[in-house]
Amino acid sequence: MRRKLLMGNWKMHKTVAEARAFAEALGRMSGRLPADVDLVLCPPYTALHPLRVILPAAVRLGAQNAHEAPHGAFTGEVSVPMLQELGVQYILAGHSERRQMFGDTDERVREKVRAIAEAELIPVLCVGENLEERRSGRTYEVVRRQVDIGLSALGPDAVKTAVVAYEPVWAIGTGQAATAADAQDVIGRIRMWIRDSHGAEAADGVRILYGGSVKPDNIAQFTAQPDIDGALVGGASLDPESFVAMAQAVAQGGA
Ligand code: 13P
Repeated sequence: MRRKLLMGNWKMHKTVAEARAFAEALGRMSGRLPADVDLVLCPPYTALHPLRVILPAAVRLGAQNAHEAPHGAFTGEVSVPMLQELGVQYILAGHSERRQMFGDTDERVREKVRAIAEAELIPVLCVGENLEERRSGRTYEVVRRQVDIGLSALGPDAVKTAVVAYEPVWAIGTGQAATAADAQDVIGRIRMWIRDSHGAEAADGVRILYGGSVKPDNIAQFTAQPDIDGALVGGASLDPESFVAMAQAVAQGGA
């Protein structure tokens, strides 16, 4: 069985002081964190080290991006080994905000996924169509291309331990989540495409998340679907109460 996974992506939110306050509040509620759900927070780089020191042990660290080279003349970038040294275990690759605003192409994302997996960290490949692509009936075509290229540098064992996050761009930060049925439809297909390209074992092992306007009161609808293994949450992960409520909802839905 695949373990459920709840990931919070803080994007460019929280100073070190604010991140510490979150972790302290979470620490006070740590008795309510379920043991059977993997919990991960992806804060800005600046808060990684402070959080490593004070986050409850049940919550793992993730990063929101990484450069594909181990080091070099890349002003402003951070590499996978640098993040690994800080205790990061998961790294997002190809979040739609990176694709839209910072020029992350499918090929670039593939190289990031490769670098993350080669360091034996867990790549979280983010995919999803925008509104215009959905309206013109191109959702499957766009998502399939992102998945195929994004995972193409990995062997079946690395795919099996990787994570894919399906985040339709029109659902991110809009309050307009996909329906659970639509999310299951696309995510079921992603698993099928992975089976075609990487084999049954990889397809059965890879965890696939839904993201886009997930909150405590809708998360269980998603994680109750057969192919949805958890959620990647933006706004609702910024509040410790809401993060704990989502963790509990995922645990109850999976029981
Ligand atoms: P929201 O949960 O704020 O819609 O953001 C989703 C997201 O982009 C997570 O990576």
